[in-house]
Amino acid sequence: MTTVLVTGATGRVGRHVVAGLRAAGVTVRALVRTPDLAGFPPDVELVQGDIHDADAVRRAAASVDAAFLLWPSYSAEGVEKIVPELPSRVVYLSSLNAASGGVWGDIEQLLRDSSDKAWTFLRPSGFAVNAQGWADAIRSGDSLRLPYPEASRSMIHERDIAAVAVLTFVNPGHVGQIYELTGPEALTQAEQVATIGRAVGRDIHVVPLAGDAARQAMLDQGAAPALAASAVNYWASLVDNPEPITTTVAELTGRPALTFADWTREHADEFRVLSTAEVAQGYVDALSAGRLDEAFSFLAPDVVRAAPLESATELKGTAAILENAQRLNTDVEYLAVETLGPLLHANHFAIRFTFTQRNTTTGTRSRATKLSLCTVESGQITREDVFYYTPPSGS
Ligand SMILES: NC(=O)c1ccc[n+]([C@@H]2O[C@H](COP(=O)([O-])OP(=O)(O)OC[C@H]3O[C@@H](n4cnc5c(N)ncnc54)[C@H](OP(=O)(O)O)[C@@H]3O)[C@@H](O)[C@H]2O)c1
Repeated sequence: MTTVLVTGATGRVGRHVVAGLRAAGVTVRALVRTPDLAGFPPDVELVQGDIHDADAVRRAAASVDAAFLLWPSYSAEGVEKIVPELPSRVVYLSSLNAASGGVWGDIEQLLRDSSDKAWTFLRPSGFAVNAQGWADAIRSGDSLRLPYPEASRSMIHERDIAAVAVLTFVNPGHVGQIYELTGPEALTQAEQVATIGRAVGRDIHVVPLAGDAARQAMLDQGAAPALAASAVNYWASLVDNPEPITTTVAELTGRPALTFADWTREHADEFRVLSTAEVAQGYVDALSAGRLDEAFSFLAPDVVRAAPLESATELKGTAAILENAQRLNTDVEYLAVETLGPLLHANHFAIRFTFTQRNTTTGTRSRATKLSLCTVESGQITREDVFYYTPPSGS
C-alpha cells in the first residue's frame, strides 16, 4: 500500500489515521476543505475540496491505492456520486448502529453493491471524544445536565479506531471484513462523568434531564428532528440494554483497547479552567508547530482581534478571524516561524512572532515580525491586540 487517500483527515479519528499511516511508511494524501488549517507535516499531500464534490474527490483519488472514507453528513444523499471516484480498496468509517440502517447502513450497502470495491467496514461504538461536548458545562460549574445518566456505553478511544484502520491498509486479509469496535468496558454516563471528575480532581454532580428536554436541546442546536428522536430513544434503550463490548481492537492490534479513563487522562485539561500560563504556552506551542486548529481551540468563540494594519475594524469571532487570515495568506507560504515568549503579566501574555515567508506568486522571500498581546479570561483568550513591526503582506 503506497498511497492512501484520507477523507476527514483533520477530524478526531482522521488525524490519528494520518499519523498511523505515516508511521507505517505509507504516503498520505488528504482531502481537506481548508488547507491553511490542516496543520499536517509537509509530506502529507493536500487536495483542497469538499467531499460532496465528485470532481474534488476524483482529483484527490487520482492514482492512490486505497481510501479511508469518512462521510461527514447525517444523510447518504450524494455519496453515490462519490463512491465511483474512489479507488477499489476502501476502508469505511461506519458505526455500530449500521446494522439498523441509517446513513451508515446505506453507505455500506452502496459499497457492497459496487462490484469494483474491495471494502472493509469499521463499526465503532460511541467515541470517547464525544465527552468533549460536556467540557464547557464542566469547566463553568459543578453540575452537568444529562439525559439517561444510567445509559451504559462502551465508548471507544478514537486512536483505537485509527489503529485498526491503519492495519487494515498495511496488512493483508481485511477485505470484506466488518469490524465491530468498542472500548474494553461499558460505563454508564454517570460513571463517565465521575471518571472525568477523578481526572480533574473535582466532584461533578449529574442532574438527570428528561428525554423530551434532551431532544429539544438537540433540535435547538440544529439537529434534524429524526436524528434527535432516534438519539434520545437510543440512549433510553441503553439503560436496560448496555452497548455490547467486543474484543476486536485487542485481537487486531495485539494490545488491550484503551479505556475511557485513558482518554480522560489525556484530555483532562479540556475539562478544567486553564491558567493564563497554560493557555499562553499551549497557544504558542500550537502556533509554532503550525497546528492552527489546536491554536484556535484556545480562543473564546467571541474573541476580539484588533490588528490595525490588517483591517481597520476589530474582528469578532473565530470565523471572522479565520476568514481574515485566509485572505492575508492567499499568496503566502510560511517557511519558518520564530517565537519570543510568552511573556506573562496578570491575565495577559505577549508573544513576538517572526515569520520567514515566501510570496507564492512572485517567489520573493521576506520576514515579518509582529507582537500579539492576549487577554485571558476563564481559561480562554478573549482578546488579541496585534502590533506589526513589518506590515503583513496582503494588507
Ligand atoms: N461520534 C461518534 O460517537 C460516532 C460513532 C460512530 C460513527 N461515527 C462516525 O464518525 C464520523 C465522524 O468522525 P470524526 O469524529 O473523526 O469526525 P470529526 O472530528 O467530526 O471531523 C469531521 C471531518 O470531516 C471533514 N469534513 C466535514 N465536512 C466535510 C466536507 N463537506 N467535505 C470534506 N471534508 C469534510 C472535516 O474537515 P474540516 O477540517 O474541513 O472541517 C473533518 O476532517 C462520522 O461519519 C460519524 O457518523 C461517529
